[in-house]
Amino acid sequence: MTIKKIGVVGAGTMGHGIAEVSALANYKVSVVDISWDFLNSAKERIIESLNRFYEKGQIKERPEDVMKRIEFSTSYDVMRDADFVIEAVPEIIELKRKVFETLDNITPSHAFLASNTSSIPISTIAEVTKRKEKVIGMHFFNPPPIMKLVEVVPSKYTSDETINVTIDLAKKMNKIPVRLKVEVPGFVSNRIFLRLMQEACREVESGEASIEEVDSTARNKLKLPMGIFELSDYVGLDVAVDLWNVIVNSGTAEDVKCEMYKRKFEAKELGVKTGKGFYNYPAAGKYKKVDLPITSKVDPARLISLAVNEGAWLIQNGIVSAKDIDRVMIYGFNFPKGLMQMADELGIKNIYNHLVDIYSKGYRAYRPNSLIEELAKSSRGFYD
Ligand code: CAA
Repeated sequence: MTIKKIGVVGAGTMGHGIAEVSALANYKVSVVDISWDFLNSAKERIIESLNRFYEKGQIKERPEDVMKRIEFSTSYDVMRDADFVIEAVPEIIELKRKVFETLDNITPSHAFLASNTSSIPISTIAEVTKRKEKVIGMHFFNPPPIMKLVEVVPSKYTSDETINVTIDLAKKMNKIPVRLKVEVPGFVSNRIFLRLMQEACREVESGEASIEEVDSTARNKLKLPMGIFELSDYVGLDVAVDLWNVIVNSGTAEDVKCEMYKRKFEAKELGVKTGKGFYNYPAAGKYKKVDLPITSKVDPARLISLAVNEGAWLIQNGIVSAKDIDRVMIYGFNFPKGLMQMADELGIKNIYNHLVDIYSKGYRAYRPNSLIEELAKSSRGFYD
């Protein structure tokens, strides 16, 4: 099946970036949103991003020529000849289901329908369509033009053909696809991200460290591009709280009691998008690297311990390999090296001891996974 036209529903942070990478991969693109305000702002942001690439010689085609492949509309009519549609509307399950119902009615029967959801189960979305086998998760990372990863998430209904077409499309978009074997709430990326946020939050709320100290360790010791709170601000604290709730409410992850995120959300301090979150930014929507102390008492092994425990759970449940977890963190979050590799280097025994210590303080989510326990006791790592 040859894909010629890609539809994108939702022109926000993710949608406009997905439209841009689709056009850069030479596809015709139709972007639909509910208002011209959103569409015009998406257009401006795409042009700005294309200009940056063009000025640096990273793309050869002139931005105005790339733009000729993208049409914008407030009507779903433009989806009538779409071969592959990617939905990127807000993470509200009823809204997503409505969009998929509409797409199912309007797109040709051969069209594949993908969701960029970061946490909603794909099967729940697929169930409103008459083509469940053609519905799949295609999860991009912010900013989509820069981040290489695409998580490919089949539901229990998705056909092999749909999986293969999606993997192929991601490669044509110059992305690195990582396929989950089984659908799991929050996928790999956000389960790990959640665990990093929870431990960061726990350290601050329990008085072990300040926000800046946690982030200093993330950036200066683990060499991550952003601190954990900084990244949360960048992603949006509404998105962060949402994925936190979806994963915990699914019953597949023990919660870590921590109120800071929820309080920020309730105060409508949503991070970069509102100009204020855990840090202050120059203006709403304007990210600037935050200033952090060079040194910090926060132990990097402690900071990643819960995330590594989650990684072990994903491996044990046959969802992905250690290597794929590492690919997710390197290409989806720009980690300098994989999380599981970091764990090996910092010492599994060391990670295990932190988990035991925090668990003993009453945080049940830190109960060491049996794979970690086994590796720690036999002095082995995730890699040989
Ligand atoms: N279009 C084109 N170029 C862009 C761009 C865009 N939208 N955004 C950034 N760039 C370019 C900049 O021009 C700059 O290029 P040069 O190095 O050639 O000058 C480069 O990217 C770096 O950008 P900045 O100098 O502005 O800032 P930075 O060095 O701090 O990097 C960053 C910014 C690339 C975002 C980096 O901080 C990073 O990798 N952060 C981690 C991001 C991350 O983890 N994303 C995943 C979030 S989770 C998610 O998205 C999934 C979910 O479901 C929640």
